Amino acid sequence: MSAIVIIGAQWGDEGKGKLVDVFASHSDLIVRFQGGSNAGHTLVVNGKKTVLHLIPSGILHPDKMCIIASGVVIDIFGLIGEIKKLKETGFEISNSQLLISDSATVLLPYHKALDQAREKSLSESKIGTTGKGIGPAYEDRASRRALVMSDLYDTKNLLAKLEFVLKEKNVLLTKMYDAPEISAKEIYEQILPVAEELKTYRATDVGLIVSNKLKQGRRVLFEGAQGTLLDIQHGTYPFVTSSSTLSGSAATSVGIGPHHLQKIVGVFKAYCTRVGSGPFPTELTNDVGEKIQKDGHEFGSTTGRARRCGWLDLVALKHAIRLNGVNSLAMMKIDVLSGHDQIGVCTAYKLNGEIIHDFPTATDLVSQVEPVIEFLPGWKEDITQVKNMKDLPLKAMNYINFVTAQIGCPIDVISVGPDREQTLWIKPLFKD
Ligand code: GDP
Ligand code: IMO
Ligand code: MG
Repeated sequence: MSAIVIIGAQWGDEGKGKLVDVFASHSDLIVRFQGGSNAGHTLVVNGKKTVLHLIPSGILHPDKMCIIASGVVIDIFGLIGEIKKLKETGFEISNSQLLISDSATVLLPYHKALDQAREKSLSESKIGTTGKGIGPAYEDRASRRALVMSDLYDTKNLLAKLEFVLKEKNVLLTKMYDAPEISAKEIYEQILPVAEELKTYRATDVGLIVSNKLKQGRRVLFEGAQGTLLDIQHGTYPFVTSSSTLSGSAATSVGIGPHHLQKIVGVFKAYCTRVGSGPFPTELTNDVGEKIQKDGHEFGSTTGRARRCGWLDLVALKHAIRLNGVNSLAMMKIDVLSGHDQIGVCTAYKLNGEIIHDFPTATDLVSQVEPVIEFLPGWKEDITQVKNMKDLPLKAMNYINFVTAQIGCPIDVISVGPDREQTLWIKPLFKD
């Protein structure tokens, strides 16, 4: 078992970054496979916090190789900023630590401008995007007008390519959205020094590199971004992101065969959160929801927006387990639930007076369901310093056992705090 895919099993921000950082010490290669700088992955090591958006969450381990695969949309200016920040904090970031796929899509300022202009123009039906240009960048990829990373190094043709793309974008920006025009020449000049720096990390065939490492028996982690219910095909469309966030996309986005993906780890919080618009069946718009938000510091690391909070939704979690083929789970942030008299868990939905156990595929039905909540006794103890499962309060253990029994998939890791060290292992990694 040398390939492990780590995906979010809810609406994002489950704690994937923390888990990847923890798993990375047992791995050789960490590959980020989709999304862009809409992601915010927070790592805490000895109390020191690092937020990553594009760089894989293994980067704090200097002896590991991190790869950004072709399925990612790369805000090159954002990426340079992330590299710079890491360098300022003492990380070297050489090309034996970071590689960037030549065929990854380049995300440029006009993608952000369009994303933000579109959201601004919508009233009721806002998606609540991060404004990072993700939708427009993936659109360009699908309509075959995107620049890819290798275009940046071909400086002879770069300006012409930008002029071609901006011809259409500027009509949209100025005529449709009353936004300022963007100059191809200006962007070109900004790109040149950035491309020179990024060239250091150039990788022509990431699929080949990863395949060879797997052949040599190296341990590879595939890091997902966002979450299952934000998937472009299977999420609560249109309140989703623009990439496939599911485990299967790790193979296509990296360029390896799907048979390699044997262990699929679903990361979930012991409760639920969602940022942006869209249905959220277990949302708590009361003081209990506020307590979870406050205790869990549920404010986005990319946009600073408050995350909506609610009880754990097992209907949605089972849906995520099925869509991804999850065979191992990591429960994060159970420490945040300390201090409640009782803890709710959604075990079914009520729709038009009937009890259902499957997550509806139609988004308008998801917004109509009522959650069926079972309550379990809460615990008061602070569990952030617990080092072994056996030292968890009985009521916390009951909660974990209840969830495991309901979902029929093993929970192999429990996280009791943001720090790398605050992780309880039930089963070792890279074992069947
Ligand atoms: P990601 O996008 O899935 O990587 O998750 P984020 O990093 O956006 O959000 C998770 C937040 O919870 C971050 O601030 C983490 O530092 C924090 N976190 C992760 N695991 C735990 C945990 O077990 N307990 C607590 N209290 N915080 C955690
Ligand atoms: P990580 O990797 C939580 C949400 C946005 C919005 C929708 C579409 O940190 O878990 P987009 O900018 O992608 O077009 O926005 O998706 N969203 C996330 N929510 N965590 C994320 O990433 C997210 N990335 C996008 O809030 O609702
Ligand atoms: Mg996040």
